[in-house]
Order: sequence, then C-alpha cells, then structure tokens
Amino acid sequence: MSDLSIKIQQAVLGIRKRSGIMPEIAIILGTGLGALANEITNKIEINYKDIPGFPLSTVEAHAGKLILGEMGGKKVVAMQGRFHRYEGYSYREVTFPVYVMKKLGAKILMVSNAAGGLNKKFKAGEIMMISDHNALLLGDNPLAGPNDERIGPRWPDMFRTYDVELMKLAEKLARKNKIQMHKGVYIGVIGPNLETEAEYKFLIAMGGDAVGMSTVPEVIVARHCGLRVLGISVITDMCIPGHLEVANIEKIIGNASQAEPKLTKIMSLVVKELKL
Ligand code: HPA
Repeated sequence: MSDLSIKIQQAVLGIRKRSGIMPEIAIILGTGLGALANEITNKIEINYKDIPGFPLSTVEAHAGKLILGEMGGKKVVAMQGRFHRYEGYSYREVTFPVYVMKKLGAKILMVSNAAGGLNKKFKAGEIMMISDHNALLLGDNPLAGPNDERIGPRWPDMFRTYDVELMKLAEKLARKNKIQMHKGVYIGVIGPNLETEAEYKFLIAMGGDAVGMSTVPEVIVARHCGLRVLGISVITDMCIPGHLEVANIEKIIGNASQAEPKLTKIMSLVVKELKL
C-alpha cells in the first residue's frame, strides 16, 4: 500500500468510529456558503482536528468540520470549511479530504465557491455553474509526485471534467425554480491577493468567466479518483478592467449572502432529484 492510501485508510477508520454512514454524495461548502449544511439531518459533526491525517495549523482550519448525515433522501458528507494553498498548505494537503470522502463511499462531488466575475454579462450576487476550469496558473499540481494506480491513473483524462448529466439536471432545476444561473469557465489562482487590472485582462484573454482561489485542485483530485463533479460559483465581485473599484470585503460578503439561498436551493434540489 502506498503512503497515501495508508493515510486515507487511517482517516476513514477515524471517521467510521464516529459515524457508520456510507455517504453517496460529497459536498464542499465555499467560504461564506455554509448554509447548505443546515439542510443535513441526523447528522454527526467531526472537527477536522479529530480526523487522523487532516491538515491542520491555521486558524481557519480549526473551525472546519466534516458533517455526515442525510439530505433529500440521500446520504451525504459535507466539508464545512476547506483548505487553501494560500494558507500554506500544499495542493496534496488541500485535496486530501477528497480522497477520504471518495473512500467513505461518495460517487459524486458537489463544490461551491466565491469567485470574481470576469464576464461582462455577470453581476455581483449572481451564480455561475462551472462548465470547465483552467488549472494552468496554479503553479503546481495535486497529482505531482508518486501515483498509486489503485487510487487513480498516472495520467487522468480531463475530458468533460464537469459532469454533463449533473449540469443538465442543475440547469433544469434552476429554470424550473426561476433562478438565473450563468455557465462558464472558472480559472483557479493561488491568491491570497486579488488580481491586478493587467492580470484580469490576462484571465479574460485566457477565456475565463470567473476567478477564484479554490475548487480546481479538489476537482482534479476528484476526477483522478473517479468522482463525478458539479461546481457552482457565487459571483461576489466584478473584475472588469476599466471598471474596477477598491475591493470592499463587507460588500463581497454581502453579495455572497445575497446569492447563497439560490446556491443552496439548487444544490439541495440536485441532491434530492439525482438518480445514483
Ligand atoms: N479574485 C478576484 N475576486 C474574487 C476572487 C478572486 O480570486 N474570489 C472572490 N472574489
């Protein structure tokens, strides 16, 4: 067994001691987007610090917890709080919980995040389904290093990284509930600073519709181990060259909370409606 699979096994055993639930769906809740966790019933919450092998050291991580329970008639596992490269974690550490959730039984990963809008048609407070991503600015890759073929292939394919069926279902449910949802390309960056105007021009020229500091590493690892993926971004601020303003954190958080009910509704409906 590889070091990684031993570590995954230890984390799974630690979780199993607390909850016997075999989750079918894994959920990662983005910054300020934790409300979906309120829909989970019969739940067990485990602090990250109590899970063997989970990365720890920063203040943010201490608040993080894994929630196992039921939602919409399905068994789920949700991460409330995630790890970011800019906190000092490696991409291997950032993505470790994804392998653990897969090993617990998950077949699908649903992920949310707060992102900057690069598409002129978007407005802050709206949501965007991620149709594709760009990882080329991450500076490293969570799969760099030895590969364990029992976890996933050395050279995983990234064709249709975001699951076509899940996207169709999310779009159908958004339409039915009259929730406006854009669709576009998410570009992953390291952070923690926001981008310069020159960088926004470059991200737009790259074909980006949204930019953010999370999600892409976790999705690469999800595809590596064979999880189907659905991703939704909340557009918290617009990043259009020529129209930039000083980033106002209160405004960004305000826009995230304005969009959150739409995200929560779509995600919980997808969980309920999807056929596994
Ligand atoms: N860049 C710009 N704006 C943002 C980001 C980002 O990474 N995340 C949320 N808003």
